[in-house]
Amino acid sequence: MSNKPKSKKKTELRSRAWFDNPDHPDMTALYLERYLNYGLTREELQSGKPIIGIAQTGSDLSPCNRPHIELAKRVRDGIRDAGGIALEFPVHPIQETGKRPTASLDRNLAYLGLVEVLYGYPLDGVVLTVGCDKTTPACMMAAATVDIPAIVLSGGPMLNGYSGGRLCGSGTAIWEARELHAKGEINYEDFMKRAADSAPSAGYCNTMGTASTMNSLSEALGMQLPGGGSIPAPYRERGQISYETGRRIVELVNKDIRPSDILTREAFENAIVVNSALGGSTNAPIHITAIARHIGVELDIEDWEKHGLDVPLLVNLQPAGEYLAEDFHRAGGVAAVVSELISKGLIHESCPTVSGKSIGENYRGKKSENPDVIRTFDSALVLAAGFKVISGNLFDSAIMKLSVLSEEFRDRYLNNPEDPDAFEGDAIVFDGPEHYREVIDDPALNITENSILFIRGAGPIGYPGAAEVVNMRVPDYLLKQGITSLACIGDGRQSGTSGSPSILNASPEAAVGGGLALLKNGDRVRIDLKKGKANILISDAELKARQVELAKSGGYKIPEHQTPWQEIQRGIIDQLSEGMVLKPAVKYQRIAKS
Ligand code: FES
Ligand code: MG
Repeated sequence: MSNKPKSKKKTELRSRAWFDNPDHPDMTALYLERYLNYGLTREELQSGKPIIGIAQTGSDLSPCNRPHIELAKRVRDGIRDAGGIALEFPVHPIQETGKRPTASLDRNLAYLGLVEVLYGYPLDGVVLTVGCDKTTPACMMAAATVDIPAIVLSGGPMLNGYSGGRLCGSGTAIWEARELHAKGEINYEDFMKRAADSAPSAGYCNTMGTASTMNSLSEALGMQLPGGGSIPAPYRERGQISYETGRRIVELVNKDIRPSDILTREAFENAIVVNSALGGSTNAPIHITAIARHIGVELDIEDWEKHGLDVPLLVNLQPAGEYLAEDFHRAGGVAAVVSELISKGLIHESCPTVSGKSIGENYRGKKSENPDVIRTFDSALVLAAGFKVISGNLFDSAIMKLSVLSEEFRDRYLNNPEDPDAFEGDAIVFDGPEHYREVIDDPALNITENSILFIRGAGPIGYPGAAEVVNMRVPDYLLKQGITSLACIGDGRQSGTSGSPSILNASPEAAVGGGLALLKNGDRVRIDLKKGKANILISDAELKARQVELAKSGGYKIPEHQTPWQEIQRGIIDQLSEGMVLKPAVKYQRIAKS
């Protein structure tokens, strides 16, 4: 089945309106002259060649994306060889591990900035350089809004990390080391060494965290050339695909193939299916929903359960499995996963991609090169590995990633003979990440193995950008008793590198009056995973009384804004279930008409 993007009538390049507009010689002169002052010639700029932007996300502040500083040279070579002219420009940095209070505060800021650049400058097409978690959605959201021809280029993950001869993956190694440190099994020096060992080369996180998830999904959506989502940053192939990407964007401009031709409802359904097979991050629904909303495709949180829940886990990568991103690439990457899903009829094969071929043509028949790393259905790691959507009087929706549930968790909560899918516990409630960190080890809280840890005030408004904190650790005194995890629930997010059994992204958040705001320490809470329900076990009358009391007190208290952007974003941001987009931005669709 082939469904190549329809060949369209070649439209006038939009850059001509700046550089070669005979009706406005004065404006043309103004636009033109300053682009000459570093050596471009008038002949080049008026030659009718496509002008291609390279949206540069790499910098010293963004180590995950820093390989793009070098890779952009190969992109330029490709653009030039295919008959285009490259103009590179910076994107607002978003480094997951460097930005306080949280990098996700800046996804929408980078989005806004990039929309302005793509709309307001003489660009006919753009190469979106991506890598670290939020850089992929930010760039794709902007390309969706503006809808000029665009192609995604990942910078690639880091090589495998090793510590003491064992694989040691980004983020995941730190979550493990902090437990060992808390139990007194390793010292500060060992802790820091493990952190360094998990980051052995240039590139983004080498676990299947949010970065590898979003880079893989951008390929599965058809926005990246085959292989682009997984080639490690230092590999030869990374420079080579950068060159091919540069060539390809010129072709996309010549054929007028835009994000709206690729990012269809079917493409998003493919991404949901692939995400389950990858053991992808719980941040994926937020970012994929945001991209869908900006391109104008309807996608609900329920779609994740409907299309993704029963898909098995095929990729054996940390945190759900054992291996790391270098192994994933060597085993065949996205191609091997999609091919296996195609063989089971789970992929819309006719979806077009930036390669010029359909997703079926790109991947059908590709085989896993390492059957332990990328599995077949027959050897799947977990049978139903998608996200379970949960609702009740605590929130309208939240998700739980089933692929990371530990044996311990399954035994305690899923294999209970009385009622296989329900568990009850007593709530311990934290108001925001600072409160949690301050009191988690305080014995007065009396956290036991029957406690359920709640964090609220961690959503997009409660904690500007939504804190990545729901994967709360158990207190040290429980760790010492051998209890390593407790159920966690919250209106924030959790790191894609965490294997915590959490119910997260709860919407609406406490800060806008969600049910979590009414919860008190010691409340009995019942979670029925089978039915997808989470409820505080108190009467409706008591719930109502608490609502009245909260309203009287002026509502759930949130911390002061620290920056202008925090205040602006809090005023216009949507909930996690809605992609955490800027509400007024969604109505701007396909704004670059030509
Ligand atoms: Fe940048 Fe994980 S911190 S990809
Ligand atoms: Mg993260």
